[in-house]
Amino acid sequence: MKKLYIVANWKSNLTKEEARKWFEEEANIEIFIMHVMIMRRDKPPKDSDTENNEIIICPPFTLLSYLKTLIEEKKVPFKLGAQNVSSFDSGAYTGEINAKQIKDFGDYVIIGHSERRNNFGENDDELIKKVRQALVNGLMPIFCIQNETTPVPDGVKIVAYEPPSAIGTGNPDTPENAEKVAEAVKSKYKDVEVVLYGGSVTSENIKQFVDMENINGVLVGGASLDPVKFAALMKNAS
Ligand code: PGA
Repeated sequence: MKKLYIVANWKSNLTKEEARKWFEEEANIEIFIMHVMIMRRDKPPKDSDTENNEIIICPPFTLLSYLKTLIEEKKVPFKLGAQNVSSFDSGAYTGEINAKQIKDFGDYVIIGHSERRNNFGENDDELIKKVRQALVNGLMPIFCIQNETTPVPDGVKIVAYEPPSAIGTGNPDTPENAEKVAEAVKSKYKDVEVVLYGGSVTSENIKQFVDMENINGVLVGGASLDPVKFAALMKNAS
């Protein structure tokens, strides 16, 4: 049984008060804990990997500290990640957040999302530098590719296949095509161990994707902003 990853990409959404509501309502926390436990219990008990299913929340930078506190207080089995990282080390880079700073709060970072490539001109060379910064500082990159020809930098273990036509449109790729891309990426890049699918994932379609042999989980945007939808998504993944 494979280890499952569910990554929530909140993008540029939610204030502290909205995050508190998402996270702090007792009912939601109980739903979350219950579903993470269901995900674990449903797998064969002797498979130690299943103890490590990963639910990773990637909020805006402004909420990382607050969410870390909430996760610890509420004992919710979630990990944290950022949505971007500086391609530079610490220093005179006004406005940048570097990998060492992110590591204070989380273990993961999304790199190369198509929204950053398209809106902020991030190119392959810059993305290689970001991956390097993440790796040397102990952050695990979740590297987004737009199709199977997008280059994946050395050292990347987790890739998210996110066709731009599927992002935020309600038109997901087919699970069969996503599986083909996942298989191709794993055979082309020997460092890649995990391939996620992203783009209009919902509680209704998540199972079709995670049931595919080479798909190890999902990256979820819109459906992660509503805690009830996100809980349903976790429930339906197992
Ligand atoms: P979506 O976004 O789930 O809203 O389509 C996915 C993503 O861009 O990470």
